[in-house]
Amino acid sequence: MTTRRTRWQEAGRSGNFGRRFAELISAGEDVDGEARLADTLLPRGARVLDAGAGMGRVAAALGQRGHDVVAIEPDEALVRQARETYPGLPIEERDILDLDPDDGPFDLVVCVGNVIVYLAEGTERRALGALRDVLGENGRILVGFQLQDPPPHARTYPAAEFEADLAAAGLRVDLRAGTYQLHPANDAYGVWILSRAQD
Ligand SMILES: C[S@@+](CC[C@H](N)C(=O)[O-])C[C@H]1O[C@@H](n2cnc3c(N)ncnc32)[C@H](O)[C@@H]1O
Repeated sequence: MTTRRTRWQEAGRSGNFGRRFAELISAGEDVDGEARLADTLLPRGARVLDAGAGMGRVAAALGQRGHDVVAIEPDEALVRQARETYPGLPIEERDILDLDPDDGPFDLVVCVGNVIVYLAEGTERRALGALRDVLGENGRILVGFQLQDPPPHARTYPAAEFEADLAAAGLRVDLRAGTYQLHPANDAYGVWILSRAQD
């Protein structure tokens, strides 16, 4: 089991984040944008991993759309909140770095909402490799994070550096966009659809 603390854990952000999403959801705000895009990438009843699931909103929305979803999240407080908010959601207190290839195969891994910029320092390529290793034969990864003005305690991760790390981790860029509604790529936010690079 990994002992590296994520930037998220170092920042102690779970309270604010969990509260903010709980308020948005109870106010009826749309928090399903990532899940809608993920759903369009999938056959019905697909197997999905939500990696860094937070309080479970994306995993729950994909479960409601009929997919077989597993969520992992290392922040104990967020796992608790996910279980309270979405009873029955399969969520494990677990780090991406602790994934095993036998946890797969998944049709899709979602890793959205700034997970990538909150990984523990220096673990980006290992984490991307761990996500690649749980993909099924035609599996894909949906990833998205802020390129500019990163949230508190998150790193700045330029798109070119991220794409170099993807290549080093054996991943191929199938599509890059600027939003989860697939607006053109821009400098503010990055959304990528990835698959395993050919050997
Ligand atoms: C801004 S929150 C986003 C949560 C969720 N994906 C969402 O969009 O609602 C960032 C999340 O990344 C998670 N994270 C950071 N490093 C991680 C790692 N190595 N493995 C799994 N999750 C990680 C944090 O624990 C935190 O829940």
